[in-house]
Amino acid sequence: MSDVSHPPRTAAVIPAAGRGVRLGPGAPKALRTLNGTPMLVHAVRAMAASRAVTLVVVVAPADETQGVKALLADLALPDRTDIAVVPGGDTRQESVRLGLEAIPEGIDIVLVHDAARPLVPVDTVDSVIEAVRDGAVAVVPALPLADTVKEVEPAPSGGPEPVVATPERARLRAVQTPQGFDRATLVNAHATMAVAGGDGATDCAGMVERLGAPVVVVPGHEEAFKVTRPLDLVLAEAVLARRRANDGF
Ligand code: C5P
Repeated sequence: MSDVSHPPRTAAVIPAAGRGVRLGPGAPKALRTLNGTPMLVHAVRAMAASRAVTLVVVVAPADETQGVKALLADLALPDRTDIAVVPGGDTRQESVRLGLEAIPEGIDIVLVHDAARPLVPVDTVDSVIEAVRDGAVAVVPALPLADTVKEVEPAPSGGPEPVVATPERARLRAVQTPQGFDRATLVNAHATMAVAGGDGATDCAGMVERLGAPVVVVPGHEEAFKVTRPLDLVLAEAVLARRRANDGF
């Protein structure tokens, strides 16, 4: 697919329309601040840091679209990078689909990156893009697990849950974002899921798997963790402080 003189153009969709209830009450998760800057702004900068990314599409909470546009209007991004803001839907899947619809012709590679992973390093972004340029139709960055994982029969009341299986840890990976796709493959996966009414996939790569298309994993990064619970905010601010101390960022 790739041609050295004209590398395929890449857009990044950032679904940022979730409420983030696990972080506790307050602003939508993407608008929570890390060291005074909204997570979404960190996430946009992380995508724009890649020289390959020419467009960032932010999918905002429907009732916050104007506010998000205003927030991003003053953001200093590289000249190569355009930004668009569109209203999101009721599920992550719907928000991503709305983001995909905002991507113009001429872009062949699409990244999907959670606003809730504001600190992903540019090298991880570039290695995902590289793998798609090299011919993979779906690429996910991922890390081996530290914890052993049990599959259980969930107990609604919070009581003891019977263990059903213990998957072999060495074969498991915790997946992160940005996930990278051949655009046509991702659009097809979303169209197929919309028709099938399937809403069980928690990531886009899972939808591509259901199509029967191959998905590959490349190494993720510990700083690409998802900010989900209050303690994650503390960790994220510590990472930013370390970066500032190391390189003045
Ligand atoms: O809820 P979860 O942490 O899995 O959300 C992952 C990402 O999907 C977040 O960045 C969130 O803002 C986004 N999302 C969305 N639209 C929704 C629900 C979640 O864009 N309706």
